Amino acid sequence: MNKFVQKCKTLDDTKSLAEKFAKLVESDGCFVNLFGEIGAGKTAFVRLVAQSLGIVEKVTSPSFVILNEYHSASIPVYHFDLYRLEHAGIKTITDELREYSSGRKITFVEWAEFSQGELPFERIEINVTYDDDDSRIYEFKSVGEKNIRIIEGLKQ
Ligand SMILES: Nc1ncnc2c1ncn2[C@@H]1O[C@H](COP(=O)(O)OP(=O)(O)OP(=O)(O)O)[C@@H](O)[C@H]1O
Ligand SMILES: [Mg+2]
Repeated sequence: MNKFVQKCKTLDDTKSLAEKFAKLVESDGCFVNLFGEIGAGKTAFVRLVAQSLGIVEKVTSPSFVILNEYHSASIPVYHFDLYRLEHAGIKTITDELREYSSGRKITFVEWAEFSQGELPFERIEINVTYDDDDSRIYEFKSVGEKNIRIIEGLKQ
């Protein structure tokens, strides 16, 4: 099954998972969509991955600015949040996301369901759900062949 599910009982567990993920994507990059309700832990995961990659800037939620980018690690990281995107912006975002899906970079997109367009095909989808208190369930899925290696790597 091209899927990997991990329960993280604490933020520290999420940190370990993020470190593992960072190692797997740091060489070739990846296009990642994060799903899950408000406060689930999408931004928290991106922040922990960024820190594992050695990003020194503070990683904040891009909900108001749509895109944050970080260039202090060995691979550039782009972090989109489409939650507050206006209607006019939605029209152009699909092309933009396509641009950010190729080349050696890591692109995270929160609330990609708001893009209302076709997403770049080769991607990893992460679905975050609440369990209780500080417990979260992170579910990873590869869309397309290219990222199966990452899912397999998470299982090791
Ligand atoms: N095990 C855990 N994994 C991830 N986050 C956790 C965990 N336990 C507690 N948290 C906390 O849950 C909160 C998750 O908030 P976060 O901003 O990541 O949510 P989000 O999914 O990005 O929401 P939004 O849709 O508003 O952007 C953070 O305050 C984080 O510290
Ligand atoms: Mg967020």
